[in-house]
Amino acid sequence: MNKTFIALAALGLLAWQGLAWGDAAATAEACIDCHDLEEFQGMDAATLAAGVETGNADNKMMAKATKDMSAEDIKAAVDYLAAEANK
Ligand code: HEC
Repeated sequence: MNKTFIALAALGLLAWQGLAWGDAAATAEACIDCHDLEEFQGMDAATLAAGVETGNADNKMMAKATKDMSAEDIKAAVDYLAAEANK
């Protein structure tokens, strides 16, 4: 493999990750409509994901707001929120 190819591949991966992170931020915005980032402080992604399950089961408002989000979208948003809340 030549160096240019590796550099381009790395750049492509970075751009792709940037895009995915952007989508996560957009989904996370919807959570922040109802929640404060501070609420999620001290929660890691796994705790937060479990909290989303509880929130959806216990709260009709949240269940309605998240019903059109795919599992991937929610996972990405949860990863993003856990990272942002625990900076
Ligand atoms: C329409 C408003 C609304 C939206 C949008 C929303 N939630 Fe909620 N959520 C609530 C309400 C209301 C509760 C129950 C009260 C509480 O614990 O704050 C709740 C509960 C939670 C809980 C705590 C559950 C527990 O353990 O008690 C977590 C974590 C959570 N939501 C995360 C999220 C995430 C992540 C998103 C985005 C994918 C999201 N919420 C979107 C309204 C919303």
